[in-house]
Amino acid sequence: MKTYQIVLLPGDGVGPEVTAVARAAMASVAAICGFRLTFSEHAIGGASIDQYGAPLTPQALAACQASDAIFLGAVGGPKWDQAVSRPEAGLLALRKALQVYANLRPVSVHPALAGKSPLRAELVAGVDMLIVRELTGGIYFGARQKGQDYASDECAYNRAEIERVAHIAFQQARLRRGKLTSIDKANVLETSRLWRSVVSEMGAKTYPDIALDHIYVDAAAMHLLRDPASFDVIVTENMFGDILSDEASMLPGSIGLLGSASLGDKRPGVFEPIHGSAPDIAGQDKANPFGAIESAAQLFESGLGEIEAARRLRAAINAMHEAGEWTADLGGSLNCSKAGTRLLQHLERMRVYLKR
Ligand code: IPM
Ligand code: MG
Repeated sequence: MKTYQIVLLPGDGVGPEVTAVARAAMASVAAICGFRLTFSEHAIGGASIDQYGAPLTPQALAACQASDAIFLGAVGGPKWDQAVSRPEAGLLALRKALQVYANLRPVSVHPALAGKSPLRAELVAGVDMLIVRELTGGIYFGARQKGQDYASDECAYNRAEIERVAHIAFQQARLRRGKLTSIDKANVLETSRLWRSVVSEMGAKTYPDIALDHIYVDAAAMHLLRDPASFDVIVTENMFGDILSDEASMLPGSIGLLGSASLGDKRPGVFEPIHGSAPDIAGQDKANPFGAIESAAQLFESGLGEIEAARRLRAAINAMHEAGEWTADLGGSLNCSKAGTRLLQHLERMRVYLKR
């Protein structure tokens, strides 16, 4: 039987709670689809600092490198705010070491969620976008200086870094509605001017079939609320993508719904919900596990090429939306683990009729 090695990095806060639900969902779908998953768990972030004194140990990284795919819960929390090396540094080191330079964050609004968004229902109806965020460059990884009264963070990009992530975005646009919006701050930043010229060149030379436009990040933040359904694929640098994807997460009504895939040129990819560790609700079984389950679907789809498994997970999530089976962030009455149990029941119920 085909077997895949999955590394679980539950991390901090609500990370372990949503990871437990995702693990059960992945195992159940694998059994239905006829392949095997072996899981190994490692600490990352604050959990790793507490256990080993560092946010990512060489052992955990080695296990990740030897795996077929990595599922990550969340990292960070106020407990480690004063730590010499912060929990977030573990996640950044993992992304860099694995060279997962493209972070795919799909945002869509299921019709049953109409009315859940803080935006008017007619505004978010039909939203279906994919944010492609550059993940291993830019200001997150530039040189830093820290003094008593002075600090600096450098933002740098080279052509190759821009090209590889833009290729992924153009190709995704081809698979979707053929529209790509590149977001930058080319009216101010040199890195953005390089970004815009490289992406334009690629559009003209290699992807003339894609409708490419460029907008400034401040205007993009506004258009995401004014006319979110007009976006198809977005490509942008690391920090702009971090900020805009949190903004976009409010379109379906809860950041707890969204998953992400961090991909490089080869396995393993890293799959994680985009919500953080939510320390305020940690340990209370209140977190929304849908973002983690959607991340598991992405793990199957783009991490392992197990398309049928991804389809089943998403069908089960949609069934729950249709039945109004939600956690408290969406006005529902389920807790995290109960939502996980319901999902398994839907998977079981759809076992037969989803088969082709
Ligand atoms: C994200 C998170 C991370 C980031 C943090 C935890 C370092 O906000 O994945 O969006 O900024 O990339
Ligand atoms: Mg973020």
